[in-house]
This record gives sequence, C-alpha cells and structure tokens, in this order.
Amino acid sequence: MAKKIGVLTGGGDSSAINAAIRAIKKKCISYGYDLFGICNGWDGLIKGTGYDLIKEGATGTICVGGTYLGTSRTNPYKKENGVEAVRENIKKFKIDALITIGGDDTNGVTGKLLAQYGINGVGIPQTIDNDIACTDYSIGFDSALEVVTDAVDKLHTTASSHHRIMIVEVMGRDAGWLALYGGLAGGADVILIPEVPFDYDEIIQVIEERKQRGRDFSIIIVAEGAKPKGVGQQVTASERVDSFGHVQLGGIGDFISREIEKRTGYESRVTVLGHIQRGGRPTAFDRILATRMGSKAVDLVHEGVFGKMVCFKDNKMVAVPIEEALKQQKPVDMELYELSKLFH
Ligand code: F6P
Repeated sequence: MAKKIGVLTGGGDSSAINAAIRAIKKKCISYGYDLFGICNGWDGLIKGTGYDLIKEGATGTICVGGTYLGTSRTNPYKKENGVEAVRENIKKFKIDALITIGGDDTNGVTGKLLAQYGINGVGIPQTIDNDIACTDYSIGFDSALEVVTDAVDKLHTTASSHHRIMIVEVMGRDAGWLALYGGLAGGADVILIPEVPFDYDEIIQVIEERKQRGRDFSIIIVAEGAKPKGVGQQVTASERVDSFGHVQLGGIGDFISREIEKRTGYESRVTVLGHIQRGGRPTAFDRILATRMGSKAVDLVHEGVFGKMVCFKDNKMVAVPIEEALKQQKPVDMELYELSKLFH
C-alpha cells in the first residue's frame, strides 16, 4: 500500500508556502505516495477537513503568495479534546506521516505529538520573522524583506522632499531580522530591534548629526517588538491573545514619532507595513528554498526519519531534531547590527 502523507500550514502566512506544497506534491507523485491536504492548520485536523492533493490543486502556484491550504493559529493542546480529535482524524484519513509548515508554534505541536503519541511528523520552518534557530533562513523571510526594502527606498524620496523624520514599523516579535536586513538594504538611518532596547537620546543624536551634515531628513526602521530602555513591555495593538499565548503587537512607531516630535519639534510621520509584508509574489530565493525544503521533507518521510525539522545550513538541506530546533529563538547577528551603525 502506498504511503499517505498529510500536509498542513499553520501560523502567520508568507509568500512562498505554496512553492513548498507544490514540491511536496511532486515528490509524493515521484514516490507513488498519496498526499492529503489539511485545511487551515491544526484546526483542519481537529475538524477533519481536507482533500486529496494529488487529485486537485497545488499546481501553478509557485509564484502565488499565501497558503493554498489556508492557515490558523489553532493549538490542539489548548482546545477541548483537540489532541484526541487530531489523533482520530489521522487514523480516519489513514495518514502515515505529517509534514507541517510553519513557525515554532506549529512545528512545536508536531514534535509533541510524536513524543507523546508516536505520530510521525516532519517540520518545515516558515516565518517572515526568520527567528527559528536551526536554519539560516525560513520560508517567507526573503520575500518580506523585499517588501520592506522597497518601502524604505520609497520613503527616502518623500522624507527628503518634506524634510521629515520617517518611521517605518515592520514585523518582528522577538527578533529584528526584517528591521535589520531591511534597514541595511534600504539605507535606514536608525535601526531599532527587539534584541537591543533603544535610547531616545541616541536616536535624536543621529538625527541632529545628520542635520549638521546637511541631511535634513531621517528614516527610522523599528521592529514591532522593540522597546525603549527601562520599559518592560512591548507595545500592543490589542489585548487579544492567540492560542499559543501571543498578544497582538503594534504601535511602537507612533510612540517613537510622538516622542521625537515632543523632544525636537521636528515633523515626523509613521508607516506601518503590517500584513503587506506577508503578501505578494515570492522572491526567487524563497521559491527555491521552499522547493528544496518541501522535497527534503518528503525524502525524510521516505527514509522513515521523523521528529525532524528541515533546515537550511551553509546552502545544504539538513534535518535537525524539532525540540533542538525550537529550544531557543534566533536573535539577529550582532556583528551585522554593529555594522549598521556605520551608516547612521
Ligand atoms: O508570523 C509572525 C508574525 O509575522 C509576527 O511578526 C507578527 O507579530 C504576527 O505574525 C502577526 O500575525 P497576525 O496578525 O496574522 O496574527
């Protein structure tokens, strides 16, 4: 009997997930496996919603953002009888192995289900935050970075025309990869990341020094999770908490704008890039990364290697135990952060 793989996508989406699903499908066909597409992440395995992906769908999607299967931030461990329902549906659909595409929350469940119930699973890292430690890059980061870089480029001309301070708020809950890379690539003057609490005096010093050099505008890029020195809490957009315990962040850009205007009298404006960072056409890099990761995940299932995360290390696809991969988050490279100060 052919093996049957179930694939689901969970957590915040990004641009190259479909490229991974497409590769999983192609690889399944080459091994003669069945592929069951589970709708809306773990929610689909609780409710039992999905369909035969070999028969329908996931073709012609390499250049399409989002996730063909739908996603959710559902945690079966936080739903009444959630895990029991997942186990029953895996049996009902005769799924031999799961491939889960998502961040630490989604893949954390995969690791737990294997450890507790022997459910075979392989994880694929996907998050624009790029904060999964075992892999150099997660699917979606590079495409989001393009959006951020483009926005910073565009803000330069209007900032200089109006002689303003422009603040651009980007995603990045606990790690500032998008802010750092986007700031460096776009030539932002100040980069604020969750890893390093910031100081208003230092920001203003950069703005003033630029003024003295005749540069009467500045671009500040800030990750949503950044906070000033001495302030314990991140700025939240609402009190809502998802089933993995994450509160909705947003609004730090406004705080900074008001504080800078108050202290300097300079006019400032805020742009919040928000979910635009998660949409649009995936970059070539992301498409290839996703294709390689999807293909490797099916290879691991074929070899009977479970409980692993597919990771991209030194241009190679490797398998890392899920619990090791998720032990800690990946902060930005501080050497690169120091380098960014050269351009203040
Ligand atoms: O997936 C991670 C992330 O992009 C975070 O940077 C951000 O805080 C969060 O998603 C927002 O997700 P949503 O508004 O879709 O719940």
